[in-house]
Amino acid sequence: MTGLQEQAKKHAPGVEVTDSQVIINVGHEIEHPMLDAHLIETIDVLQFTKAGLLRVKTFTLKAGEKPEVTIELADLKPGTYKVQARCNLHGTFDNDFVI
Ligand SMILES: [Fe+2]
Repeated sequence: MTGLQEQAKKHAPGVEVTDSQVIINVGHEIEHPMLDAHLIETIDVLQFTKAGLLRVKTFTLKAGEKPEVTIELADLKPGTYKVQARCNLHGTFDNDFVI
């Protein structure tokens, strides 16, 4: 695996949609560090709308926390969403999901 492939796997937000929740897990293939010096700082959830991307939720994470967040399906309208995970060292990585 090249360094770039490993970076992508470590930062890609995995999305699992269950009957009642959306579970977002950053680096679901290779666990991402959550240290003061290197961590996933935020996970943003945005919805695609006719007017463009609308920010729905922002989760701010701290060192030591698991880079995983959960949203209740009841809190989201049906549609297409973008998840953006921001690493303090490596930038923003995203993924889309539809509910
Ligand atoms: Fe990183």
